[in-house]
Amino acid sequence: MIVCSCAVITDKDVADAVSALRTADPFVVLTPGLIYRHLSKRPSCGNCLPLITRLMVGYDEDGPGSAASLPHRSHLE
Ligand code: FES
Repeated sequence: MIVCSCAVITDKDVADAVSALRTADPFVVLTPGLIYRHLSKRPSCGNCLPLITRLMVGYDEDGPGSAASLPHRSHLE
């Protein structure tokens, strides 16, 4: 599922970025900007940032199988 239409970022891209960043540095403070930098992309409109933040937190806490990865339900709801 595409989560950022401006930079063409998928939910899997976010999950992979979270995994790679957390593996490289277990104490890294994850931010949407860090995810974008890791993917060598730049946000444009910013409308996706709340969704990317939710996915990032969900993947970081629960892994790609988390409820945050389901398009119809966020684990923060
Ligand atoms: S939808 Fe992600 S920056 Fe516009």
